[in-house]
Amino acid sequence: MNTNALYYGDNLVWLRDHQYFPDESVDLIYLDPPFNSKADYNVLFNEPGKGGKSQAQIQAFDDTWDWSSEASEIALNELAKNRPSTAEFISWLSRQGKIQESMAAYLSMMAVRLVELHRVLKPSGSLYLHCDPTASHYLKLVIDQIFGAKNFRNEIVWCYRAGGVPRKGYPSKHDTLFFYTKGRDFTFNHEYVPYTEGTLKRGLTKVKGKYFDKGLRPEGTPIQDWWSDIQKVLSPTAKEMLGYPTQKPVALLERIIKLSSNEGDIVLDPFCGCGTTIDAAQKLNRRWLGIDVTWLAIDLVEKRLKDTYGAKITSTYEVHGKPYDMASAEALANKSKKEFEIWAISLVGAHPREHDGGVDGIFGFVEQDKKTRTIIVQVKGGDVLNPGMVRDLIGTVKKEGAAIGLLITLKEPSGGMKSLAVHSEPYQSELYVKEYPSIQIRTVAELLEGKTFDLPPTQSLFKKAQLAKEKAQQSQVF
Ligand SMILES: C[S@@+](CC[C@H](N)C(=O)[O-])C[C@H]1O[C@@H](n2cnc3c(N)ncnc32)[C@H](O)[C@@H]1O
Repeated sequence: MNTNALYYGDNLVWLRDHQYFPDESVDLIYLDPPFNSKADYNVLFNEPGKGGKSQAQIQAFDDTWDWSSEASEIALNELAKNRPSTAEFISWLSRQGKIQESMAAYLSMMAVRLVELHRVLKPSGSLYLHCDPTASHYLKLVIDQIFGAKNFRNEIVWCYRAGGVPRKGYPSKHDTLFFYTKGRDFTFNHEYVPYTEGTLKRGLTKVKGKYFDKGLRPEGTPIQDWWSDIQKVLSPTAKEMLGYPTQKPVALLERIIKLSSNEGDIVLDPFCGCGTTIDAAQKLNRRWLGIDVTWLAIDLVEKRLKDTYGAKITSTYEVHGKPYDMASAEALANKSKKEFEIWAISLVGAHPREHDGGVDGIFGFVEQDKKTRTIIVQVKGGDVLNPGMVRDLIGTVKKEGAAIGLLITLKEPSGGMKSLAVHSEPYQSELYVKEYPSIQIRTVAELLEGKTFDLPPTQSLFKKAQLAKEKAQQSQVF
């Protein structure tokens, strides 16, 4: 495994592929799986022409693990094949009414993945499991069985401020991270933080016994198992914030990577989201592997890498599982209509819009008056196409006040559709002194061949990650 790589798809399917994920090949695993909290997470992005104030949203993933779903039952059955004792334990908890069915489903989904993660970890490797307080205690029982209780090293408590306060009860202001290693000889590089002013004034107390005479360490005190110096990425105006739900701060991942790996080591994040682990690993000269089941996440990671490290970075990693020809595009369309739409609109650099009113994707361009004009995108992944779809797009362009409407089809459009598009009134750009067809159609095959739409230079709507140089300059200033 020499290259950095992103994998689009279910992490269980990828992890079970021994060609891509051989035994004992990874040095460090960080995983931040969806919690069992029955929430939908939405990605926010600015809509063009609304001064960045209005936020459109698209559901990125939903974290309900449904016991009744076939996948969960399969997970428990498969777990029974690999780890009968763990499967029996989860079934027992469920039968006894100790946990709800949805929790049993969550635990079995996690357990089958943890078995694979344990397999791919090197003997000197470490795993950090970022947990939800509703499931952490059950997860610990499960992971103890897979890694061995003796390989549990620490429960790290990540404390943060911000967020709401309940009417009764304590405000929840921490996450839990379980730190396990595969064996006794594991990579660990102590990091130090400055002593408090009080300790510096007072020095060591006699309670330290034989260490008293040694005095304070010149490098500071080793980082302990509660971290209160890293804040959540919450504010939409925060430089780091990309708008991906549950995005973790890069400082959190930098700490874990520095402590539990060395330069050149391989870091794996099987639920990589918008790529916080990958960004931190890249910055710290580690090799990295990221997996996510939503195309939105993989697309965002690629954008993040490009914005942070420049376009050259694209030649340094591979993307697996991305549709690259008609057969794989059709397979995706058959598997998930929504994922196919999100992938198709990413081919033109647009962004998805849910609650759409006939708009699947949206992006924009700036005109002479410095205001942004909207381009809307519709995707048709089915076999049946007709001119009514073009009429519908023309109507939606008018209703939305957009400048241009694009139609992406999986199949070849009919002559009637093409004729309607060709005869629609063109958009006249003042800035580019050019007429653009206001309705344009391209097939997925054409886009894959590299054909493009005829458009003015367009703008991305997701927040851009900062260029690495800018980040470095800022950290020198503060
Ligand atoms: C809590 S988020 C991770 C956020 C990430 N740590 C970050 O900083 O952006 C969980 C991610 O897991 C992904 N996911 C859920 N089920 C998955 C699966 N079976 N395989 C791969 N990824 C999955 C979701 O799409 C989501 O992006």
